[in-house]
Amino acid sequence: MTQSITFTVQPGGHLRGEARVPGDKSISHRSIMLGSLAEGITHVSGFLEGEDALATLRSFQAMGVEIEGPINGNVTIHGVGLDGLTAPKDPLYLGNSGTSMRLLCGLLAGQKFDAVLTGDESLSGRPMKRVIDPLSQMGAVIESADQGRAPLTIRGQAGLHGIHYDMPIASAQVKSCLLLAGLYAEGVTSVVEPAPTRDHTERMLVGFSYPVKKEGSQVSISRQVKLTATDIDVPSDISSAAFFLVGASIAPDSDLTLKHVGVNPTRTGIIDILKLMGADIELSNQRTVGGEPVADIRVQSAQLKGIAIPENLVALAIDEFPVIFVAAACAEGETVLTGAKELRVKESDRIQVMADGLKTLGVNAKPTEDGMIIQGGVIGGGKVISHHDHRIAMAFAIAGLRANDAILIDDCANVNTSFPGFVTLASQLGLDISSEEKV
Ligand code: S3P
Repeated sequence: MTQSITFTVQPGGHLRGEARVPGDKSISHRSIMLGSLAEGITHVSGFLEGEDALATLRSFQAMGVEIEGPINGNVTIHGVGLDGLTAPKDPLYLGNSGTSMRLLCGLLAGQKFDAVLTGDESLSGRPMKRVIDPLSQMGAVIESADQGRAPLTIRGQAGLHGIHYDMPIASAQVKSCLLLAGLYAEGVTSVVEPAPTRDHTERMLVGFSYPVKKEGSQVSISRQVKLTATDIDVPSDISSAAFFLVGASIAPDSDLTLKHVGVNPTRTGIIDILKLMGADIELSNQRTVGGEPVADIRVQSAQLKGIAIPENLVALAIDEFPVIFVAAACAEGETVLTGAKELRVKESDRIQVMADGLKTLGVNAKPTEDGMIIQGGVIGGGKVISHHDHRIAMAFAIAGLRANDAILIDDCANVNTSFPGFVTLASQLGLDISSEEKV
């Protein structure tokens, strides 16, 4: 059944109150993967019940892992150990989820059985050579459609060996893929990243009592006997919180507190960028939960100003640019983003799709090869297309807070991949949004 969902956002409003956004997507994926490979029972709380993380969960069930839940964010995983997965009967369908596909490639390359990975139209168009190439150097055998696209067939019994890999792009998915393959490879697998990227895999492996060596920008792993089950409390996803951090900044008279948000320093580029633009953001109640820094974040309205976004913050805010572009459209002056070519190969081409939508709303937005130049000004109304990209849909919904007419957003069903309940929560906090579903 193909569902088509349209959001309608009426102009104006402010965001006030307290909220807890859903669990972190990256950590939710990894909790299933590592919990499945561990020995013993892993209890997860705060699990993201969104389509992407559920695709990972179903894949491990299909490989023989007993997983209970999710019920209200609680998941119980009966780990089968590093060598306990069994061959799935059918291809593993990963929907829209790049993280599932890239991380599973590494993990499956080390198994004794063959597996096929498939996805939706967006995932089937995304580049997989970035993982196929280094995995092949490790001895993996992976067959793909044209130009390294999915569906992918990963052959078992490959007999992996460790490599030293200098990553040409800053990608946590590539790094994590290789570390997971490294669990099964002879010798040492080490990865060097050109810029820091999210380090949840490294932190969580340590949480599962698995040694990981970090030296500057290099992470190394060797084959060991086991991962030991642990309990995981998934913090709220800063990438979901980002919509409200921008929303409360741009909407007059806003004062919002987001509770229990993950503030791992490899994810807080959004806070740094908004603060450089003049946002009023305060962190409190900072603590560490299961190896991940967590805080409550209070954000109040502020007049933002345009900036040149420092390139060293790009990888640390990689998923937040759709909504950062909305912040830029509301800022005084010009905002320039460079060094963000990766945005062109996300769930959609986020540079082109955001530029097109912003232009429809009357904003002066100029896409460049690796970024965007946006002049702050007035946001008008109109109909924009999200190209089935969850973060584009939510970014344009937030733009409604400062628009002078209604915004209609098509193709919003995929908001469920990362932020189930977005419309309900956004309405409770003060956005005038409704959702219409057609089957
Ligand atoms: C993710 C890494 C990022 C990010 C994605 C989740 C992860 O992708 O965009 O949403 O969980 O490792 P890249 O590593 O491809 O930049």
